[in-house]
Amino acid sequence: MSTTDHQRPGSAGGSDEAGPAHGGPDEDHTPEQLAAMDRVERDRLGARYDGVEVLHVEPGPTPGSKLEKQATRLVTFWFLLAALLSLAFLVVYVGSGWFLPDWQWTVGGSAWSAAFTPLTGLFMGLALTSVGIGLVVFVKKLMPHETAVQDKHDGSHFDRVTTSATLLGGLDNSGLRRRKLLTGTLGFMALAFGAMLIAPLGGLIKNPNKGNPLGTTPWAEGIRLVRNDGTPIRPGDQQPGSLETVFPAVTGGNRAADAATMLIRLRPAQLQNLQTPTGQEDFGYGDYVAYSKICTHAGCPVSLYEQETGRILCPCHQSQFQVTEGAKPVFGPATRPLPQLPITVDDEGYFVARSDYIEPVGPTYWNRESI
Ligand code: FES
Repeated sequence: MSTTDHQRPGSAGGSDEAGPAHGGPDEDHTPEQLAAMDRVERDRLGARYDGVEVLHVEPGPTPGSKLEKQATRLVTFWFLLAALLSLAFLVVYVGSGWFLPDWQWTVGGSAWSAAFTPLTGLFMGLALTSVGIGLVVFVKKLMPHETAVQDKHDGSHFDRVTTSATLLGGLDNSGLRRRKLLTGTLGFMALAFGAMLIAPLGGLIKNPNKGNPLGTTPWAEGIRLVRNDGTPIRPGDQQPGSLETVFPAVTGGNRAADAATMLIRLRPAQLQNLQTPTGQEDFGYGDYVAYSKICTHAGCPVSLYEQETGRILCPCHQSQFQVTEGAKPVFGPATRPLPQLPITVDDEGYFVARSDYIEPVGPTYWNRESI
């Protein structure tokens, strides 16, 4: 029996009869002769020349049978589920930056914001799983199963023509042309699934510097300086020579990577020798000064303060900054002073910022001057 004689879904065709000895099919069949044949004839001819030997054929379900309808419904279900999960991913991913602003991930945001990453991962993972299950069920329950062996040989025009006929035969035999519901679901799934895979690429064409995130921090005029537990600070709360790490009194302020600031109360002798950078003479308040805690070398938190020498040490690569000289680097690899936060006190006597930092905090980067 020739396997191309049966029209079972999924059969790639082939012949169980021995073909002629291999060699020179292009000489036996001109392009015009091949073009004149239909797809089944080319498929059969190619199989003979390819020396395909079919060992076993297990046909798929009979067209129109209950078994086939059940299998089709099952595959349709999985593809439809994959499409819906892909759409759910798109709603969360695209919507969070558009019509679902609460869903956008932010530090210390709403419950929806916290669910953004888990939800996108969950929907994408389940969509991929559904596609996989749908394909496995499709191949197992709707395609015929065939075992064939074939000698390997180099390609030729003849091989290309007959191979394309075999591939088209595979499409015919898959029954997709006949199973409209399944084909429609497959198309719907492919669109939604493709959109799900492409949508995250949109992040690559966004301007990462929109809103100047590297040049701004949560500090702004009137924002109180608070401790990690949220309590505000007044002048006099600290001993001379001490350092307190403070954060802006905004939501998530104590978790913002660029907001951590050192509030330092100078000793009287240090105050007398204080040298402030030009234009920053009034950035301090009384004997208090505030500097960014983010090292200008590679961004480590500088946190070791030696009050006798007035030096702040960075533990990562041992840069040292002189507090009484505008926190300029005096040792180590850092080349830029720690930015100073202009401070004052509000009506209730608590420390507040007078503005954001006037220059980017953290490591120096190539276009720092241009933002
Ligand atoms: S990060 Fe501070 S010295 Fe390198």
